[in-house]
Amino acid sequence: MEISVDIQPLKEFEETLDPVRETACYPFKILGYGEISTVIEIEHPAFRGIALKRIPGFPSRGAAERHGRLYENYNSILRGLGVETPEYGWVVVDRSDGSSILYLAQKLLPAESIGNRAIHRLDHEGNKRLIYSVISRLASIWRHNASGGEPLVGIDAQISNWSIKDPRSMELLYLDTSTPLLRLNGVEQMDPEVFLKAAPPLIRWLLKTLFLQEILDRYYDPHSILVDLVANYIKEKRRDLVPKLVKWVNEELKTNYTDLGIRPLSLEEVYKYYKTDARIWSIYLSSRKLHRFITSKILRRRYDYLLPKHIER
Ligand SMILES: Nc1ncnc2c1ncn2[C@@H]1O[C@H](COP(=O)(O)OP(=O)(O)OP(=O)(O)O)[C@@H](O)[C@H]1O
Ligand SMILES: [Mg+2]
Repeated sequence: MEISVDIQPLKEFEETLDPVRETACYPFKILGYGEISTVIEIEHPAFRGIALKRIPGFPSRGAAERHGRLYENYNSILRGLGVETPEYGWVVVDRSDGSSILYLAQKLLPAESIGNRAIHRLDHEGNKRLIYSVISRLASIWRHNASGGEPLVGIDAQISNWSIKDPRSMELLYLDTSTPLLRLNGVEQMDPEVFLKAAPPLIRWLLKTLFLQEILDRYYDPHSILVDLVANYIKEKRRDLVPKLVKWVNEELKTNYTDLGIRPLSLEEVYKYYKTDARIWSIYLSSRKLHRFITSKILRRRYDYLLPKHIER
């Protein structure tokens, strides 16, 4: 592995972390809240220049290690397909209460290099080059998948998952490797329980029986991935760009990627998708907060996830 994580200070951090109050023995900054992971930067010399993605909820140390190995695998498969990823590493921390927490490490990248920041700074031409650069990376994954490549590779292409390595060449790094989406002989390699564990019990059941397959399938379907990518600009407060993005994406599909046979996007489906998606995630977050309240305040038990205060939409 390219980054080795110093386990001792991390164990101290983990033992003292209060996920509800967001305090620990070392100060830390939260860089991003995900569905399963929280991205943090811990102020300690051992973690200088490292972003850590904390994933709780594993039933055993073995399960956490399996996810770590899958993370490694996903990184190397993406790189093999020409999708560059930041330097990485991982470590499992055993807490004294018996639970195992996985920490995925990644080279810490400058905040302004991340796509959702860059789209506010780039002019139209720059934004066009950025989305073309994203599409070219996606296309190499899709060509691999279309040619019957194993494992099948899924990806969450949202603009906040890319970092601009070099603005001139628009070379990119793909960040969101903490949810390794790989299917071997049609079987999802990640244990969906990791994802489900983050949800409150009732929602967990609903997700598992009704939506999980659909949610996962979307990351393997080029058209859906592109709709999600473009719709996400609305959340990132660039609604103004959306009609142009739809046009750019469709032109690009027609010019350079006809072999992939991807159905063009329509503006209506992008808007409609955004409305439903925004509603689902805000309901989901509210349900997690209710679960946190019941667990920590009423049952007085440990609630292990760091949650965003609110998501602006
Ligand atoms: N290596 C990094 N350096 C700097 N910031 C980062 C890094 N990795 C992630 N971030 C920040 O955290 C945000 C979320 O990270 P990431 O996309 O990896 O996870 P997620 O989408 O929150 O996760 P999940 O897969 O758990 O839903 C990013 O959009 C970025 O702003
Ligand atoms: Mg992300």
